[in-house]
Amino acid sequence: MRIERTLTIIKPDAMAAGHAGDIIKVFEANQFKIVFARLVNLSKKEAEGFYAVHRGKGFFESLTSFMSSGSALVMVLEGENVIARLREVMGATNPANAAPGTIRKLYAASIERNAVHGSDAPETAAFEIGYFFPGIALV
Ligand code: CMP
Repeated sequence: MRIERTLTIIKPDAMAAGHAGDIIKVFEANQFKIVFARLVNLSKKEAEGFYAVHRGKGFFESLTSFMSSGSALVMVLEGENVIARLREVMGATNPANAAPGTIRKLYAASIERNAVHGSDAPETAAFEIGYFFPGIALV
């Protein structure tokens, strides 16, 4: 098993609902180590840059407005196979399809307001970690 790093965001919906602590508890229970953290309030432009891969999709405008609507907690997590394991623990993008016990099943309200983000592959993790924490090691 490889030690990896991934980027996670506790999104404005989960922050506003007071679920940051609950979500961090899930990370800790899974031995995901928090190695960097920033509390941010993204501008619309910053949200658009982060989600640039989704530009042009029908949900882009609404997603980037939501992501810049309040505070969000951005973290780099480290652990064995953490990129795939975080995605398992988060559950499906749409909470309606998320498995019982996953973060999105427990705390998300909709496919857009889905409580948490996690990088989906090593290349994405490299871009996303660099977006918020320029210059840090990727592993
Ligand atoms: P996230 O894992 O942060 O990656 C992209 C985000 O876009 C996703 O979570 C959702 O918040 C949002 N998203 C993806 N698909 C849709 C959709 N069909 N409608 C609205 N929002 C979406």
